[in-house]
Amino acid sequence: MVSAMSLALVVGARPNFVKIAPIARELERGGIDYTLIHTGQHYDHGLSRSFFEDLGLAEPDRNLGVGSGTRDYQITSAVRGLEGVFSEKRPELVVVVGDVNSTLAGAMCASGMGIPAAHVEAGMRSFDLSMPEEINRIRTDALCGLLFTSCDDAGENLAREGVGEERIFFVGNVMIDTLVAMMPEIERCAVLDALGLEPGGYAYVTLHRPGNVDDAEKLKEIAAALDFIGGTGLDVVFPVHPRTRKRLEESALSQRFAAVTNLRQLEPLGYIQSMAATRSARFVLTDSGGLQEETTWLGVPCLTLRPNTERPVTVRVGTNVLLDAGPSMIPAAVTRVLEGGGPRGRIPELWDGRTAARIVQTIKDYLAGRG
Ligand code: UD1
Repeated sequence: MVSAMSLALVVGARPNFVKIAPIARELERGGIDYTLIHTGQHYDHGLSRSFFEDLGLAEPDRNLGVGSGTRDYQITSAVRGLEGVFSEKRPELVVVVGDVNSTLAGAMCASGMGIPAAHVEAGMRSFDLSMPEEINRIRTDALCGLLFTSCDDAGENLAREGVGEERIFFVGNVMIDTLVAMMPEIERCAVLDALGLEPGGYAYVTLHRPGNVDDAEKLKEIAAALDFIGGTGLDVVFPVHPRTRKRLEESALSQRFAAVTNLRQLEPLGYIQSMAATRSARFVLTDSGGLQEETTWLGVPCLTLRPNTERPVTVRVGTNVLLDAGPSMIPAAVTRVLEGGGPRGRIPELWDGRTAARIVQTIKDYLAGRG
């Protein structure tokens, strides 16, 4: 592709792929050249390649092969790898998305090399520094010149931190662009038939946060709560993240989970199957960030097993209920949903499927302004 403009897009972990896909598509539509760099933070087929396939994303131009390890290891190796690619490609601007370790690495490397950077999904705050993602959010926002926000409170958080309004662009939620674009395929997906599930006849459960799965006592409480859900007659569909699988094995709790009533443990699902399962679930129980937003857009009740959320708009406006005191809150929250209680929700402002177009237009204007 021939173009005066050249960008670098940095991704590394599962949620990044969902956020970058509509931006890559919009750049292609505008004939804008980009290099897609995968740090390799996620490498299993089910967490990485299957998402590229589902989302129709081109193979990354580079994969830095960082893999698993400590937070410092992941960030420093990704920065080192990115430095080589940025030196060679000399992008005019680097785009990072979300809040994973690869996001911060992209922002650190770009700012260190004096390359302007844009952060998509800026300004989110859980105000909980025990979460690695919160540190990634704060540091990434500090290093990026262009901050694209998906809701009002994100802009307010940035303003409170002293960020000038010329850096903040309220563009909406890019993850919802993907959901809108993929909806025909999600509607056609036969995952329910394949698993023998009835629409509305199951709960969809995903758990992978260290705060839930790295603590054996918490995992035991979660198993008891899942037993409660299975005891209501619902199937409990649980694609198990590799981190969670590892913790279940280490804590010898695999058998306890295998004995949970009506529990269906699965390998991680790809994007289309996961959204098809979400869309027809009676409710979702999760600690994911993205699912809080996707359920709000789909109008599916969401119970979030976390002490806080960086996505309060999903609670204020959407279908999300925060179970901030932990797994002991699950039975009452489930009962409320099954009795027809819980927020009905509506779709937040600018979650309209056109966020990537607003992002790309803003980047074009910004780069044109720099001459
Ligand atoms: C990361 C993100 C988290 C995001 C999640 C989505 C950070 C700090 N965390 O968490 O915000 O919600 O991705 O999935 O960036 N593993 C595999 N195969 C893989 C990748 C990981 O088996 O392809 C296992 C390894 O044992 C690894 C562990 O999962 O040590 C954790 O992986 P890591 O990338 O460090 O964090 P996630 O828990 O996936």
